[in-house]
Parts: sequence; C-alpha cells; structure tokens
Amino acid sequence: MPAESRLLQLELLRCPRCLGRIASAGTFCCSSCSTTFPTLAGVPWLFPDPAAALGEWRARTHGFLAALESQATHYRNALTDDVTRAATRNRLKLLAAACTDHARRLRALLAPLLDDAPAAAPELYSALGATLPAGQGLTGYYANLHRDWCWGEAENEAAFRLVDDALGQAPPGRTLLLGVGAGRLAYDLHCRRNPSTLVAADINPLFLLAASRLYAGETLELYEFPIAPRDVASHAILRRLQAPAPAGPGLHLVYADVTRAPFAEGAFDTVITPWLIDVLDDDLPVFARRVNRWLRPGGRWVNSGSLSFSSNDPARRYALEEVRELVAESGFEAPTPTEAAVPYLCSPASRHGRTESVVTFAATKIAEVERPAPARRGPEWLARADVPVPLLPPLQRRQLEVRVIAFVAGLVDGRRSVQDIAAVLVERRMMTAEEAVPAVHGFLRRLHDESTADRGPSPPL
Ligand SMILES: C[S@@+](CC[C@H](N)C(=O)[O-])C[C@H]1O[C@@H](n2cnc3c(N)ncnc32)[C@H](O)[C@@H]1O
Repeated sequence: MPAESRLLQLELLRCPRCLGRIASAGTFCCSSCSTTFPTLAGVPWLFPDPAAALGEWRARTHGFLAALESQATHYRNALTDDVTRAATRNRLKLLAAACTDHARRLRALLAPLLDDAPAAAPELYSALGATLPAGQGLTGYYANLHRDWCWGEAENEAAFRLVDDALGQAPPGRTLLLGVGAGRLAYDLHCRRNPSTLVAADINPLFLLAASRLYAGETLELYEFPIAPRDVASHAILRRLQAPAPAGPGLHLVYADVTRAPFAEGAFDTVITPWLIDVLDDDLPVFARRVNRWLRPGGRWVNSGSLSFSSNDPARRYALEEVRELVAESGFEAPTPTEAAVPYLCSPASRHGRTESVVTFAATKIAEVERPAPARRGPEWLARADVPVPLLPPLQRRQLEVRVIAFVAGLVDGRRSVQDIAAVLVERRMMTAEEAVPAVHGFLRRLHDESTADRGPSPPL
C-alpha cells in the first residue's frame, strides 16, 4: 500500500463554496473563506453550506423515522379481531414489529447525523417534507445495501467486471468514485485494482454511515422489505450485512454533492461514475465538463450504468448516440460504449427482479474545457435562505387552496354531517348547493382514503 493513500490527501480537495484549499487540524476548514466542515463518524461533510445540509438531512431523517412509526401503527391497527387467518395475523405482526425495530436500528445507525437534535411533530415533516425527488431521499436506493453486502456475489461481480474491463490493464492511480451508494463497487475496486488512493463520494448519510462501518469490518443488521415477498416470512427479513474482510487503508469516504463538489481540478487519474449520470439534476454536458476538470490531462472517465434520464426537459433525456457525442464534445476522446445485460436488484427473497442493459464506457481526457458553474437549486430566493420569497401567481393560488382545505377540514367537529358542512359553504356563498355536497363528499373521501392507505413498509421521502 503506497504511503500516500493512508490519509485522505487534502490536495485532492477544494472548498465546495469558493474552491479555496482545505486545511485540516482535526476539523476540515477552508483556508480562503474559513468555512468549517464537520465530520460525521470521521467522514468529512463537504457541502457548500454544511449547516443547511445537516439541517435538511436531519429533518428528512426525523420525518422518515416518524413515518416508519406510523406505518407500524397502521399494521397494528389492521390486526383487528375480524382478521382470523393465522398466516394473515402473522404477516401483519411481523410487519408491525419489523417497522418498529427498523426505526430503532436506523436511528442508532444515523445517530452521528441526528446528534440528539430534537424532532419536530410528525405532522410538520409530512406537511413540509417530501419535496425532494425520491432518488435523493434517505432510502431511495435502500435495497442497494442488501444487494451490496448480503445477497451473494452475482450482481456485485457483474458490476465490478464491467468497470474492471473498461479500466483495462492500466493502474487506476488516484481515483475518484462518485455516487458510491452502499459502497461495494468502491470496496471491490480498492481490494482488487489497488488504486493509489480511492476517494468515494455520496450525498446520502445513510449509505456512508453504513459503508464506513462495513469497511471497518463491522456487521450491520438491517431489515429488507422485498418488493414482491416470496412468502409470509420474507415480508420483513432481518439481514446481516458484512464485507468479506475489512477494507484496509486508502479508501476514503466523503460527503459531497457532485454538482457542487469539493474536488481539486486536475487531481485525479480516474473518475468513475457507476449508475449516476442519469439520476443527477445536472444536465449531462455540464456534468461531463465537471468530470473533465477533475481529471489530469490523459486521465480517464469510466462510466457504467443505465441511461434512464428523467429530466423534466425531454431534450435532456439522452439516448446512447447523444451520450457518446456529448462526452466527445466535453474534452474527451469519443468513447466506444459497450452494452451488457446484467441482473439488477434480484433479491433472493423477492419474486421481483430485473435484467438491465448496462452501458459502460471509458473516455480519455484530451482537452481542457471551461469550468461549469456550480449547480443552483432554483432561483435566488430558493438557493438562499435570507432572500425575500416573491408572491408569484402559482404560490398565490396554492395559498388560497391551502386556506380552503384548512377551512373545510376545520368544519369537521364530530357533529356536522357532509350536508351540514356543505351548508356552511353555501351560506358563505362559496359554492352552490348542487355543487357543495358532492365537493365536500369527495374531499372527505380523499382525506379518509389517505388516512387508511397502506403506503408500504418504506415510507416515501
Ligand atoms: C442509482 S444509485 C447508484 C449507487 C452506486 N453507484 C451503485 O452502483 O450501486 C445513485 C447514487 O448517487 C447518489 N447521488 C445522487 N445524486 C447525487 C449528488 N448530487 N451528489 C452525490 N451523490 C449523489 C445517490 O445517493 C445514490 O447513492
């Protein structure tokens, strides 16, 4: 093991806020703008606004844990005396107990993130949370943990082979792996390709808190809730997650948003992006230029994964031919992608599993490109918490809707019928009598359906 890889080399990093150099004397700090970056269980938290990112992930985690508790209650409430079949009772009891225990285990795993911060009322999280795309939530790719560390080797080996083949014989050198997820590919590359250093980044604390413990040789016990369980017992399975052996020095995890990333330009020989380019908010040509900037001249970008771009803008949902051209236009030699069918998320406990046709390429950097601007999440008043929020027409409309919802829901007092509530709307000249009864009826039906809906064992965030 080369000595350079034992410690995370600070020259590989830059401040994600101002691109200043990072210094570390226990804590990580920008020597230019003085932003201090905390660590979570020893892993640096390198977001441009570290405090805001901590607050956001904490709120998301508290909201998720609260939703998990209410899911457990939902299963318990379903276990009425009317349910007499033993198998059904066992299934509901299993799910209720597993949700409660799952919340307990996740709370313990995520303790470095929560840091005893008090949780708000669950209603606040369900009303104000859930604004992020599912893919950026705490458990968007949760099954990856089980696939990476306990379902057996088939999928992990297939993923490694694709990247290994694309790397070819040349040593990967200083390597940056983006979107490390639950961490198995980074672990396999570290053990089997011996990069001189491997920096592995992700935005999601659940993954990095789990991966850092698994890399250290610990065993984790976490529930799997398969999509299509094979039998009663496989509705909730307590799995043991473990790496084949501790990872050894030189594999460094960092928290980072790769669209506003804390990496030094020209610092890496290899950048690897497994199953990432199509889930990012960044438009591919922008992200390709970021990758270019982190590589030294002659360095290589290895990408492997699906091309299921899901941008709201149809022009950005690129096909294979477009990807090839966009990469070539971003300072890389035109790549020759390969396609291979691999198993994807085939849990042994589930009847559900897919085959994916995965696209892999290695692209060599042949030219410098202009540095793209860091990604901005929406307009100024969304990107910055201290700027007044303009009262735009869609927000005005929403305000009115929310008031109406609050008003009608507030009329429910345990005594009024649908007709009585509709009569109040008519009296206040909000609606005609013909429309008011069906409208109130529909509204209350929706509320009722939402409150009794089975949202599945993984609360959406
Ligand atoms: C589809 S998963 C792939 C995970 C892993 N590469 C694998 O192949 O199993 C995408 C990963 O990218 C991470 N991710 C998404 N957006 C990101 C961003 N802006 N910065 C860093 N990581 C991000 C997610 O947290 C998730 O771990």
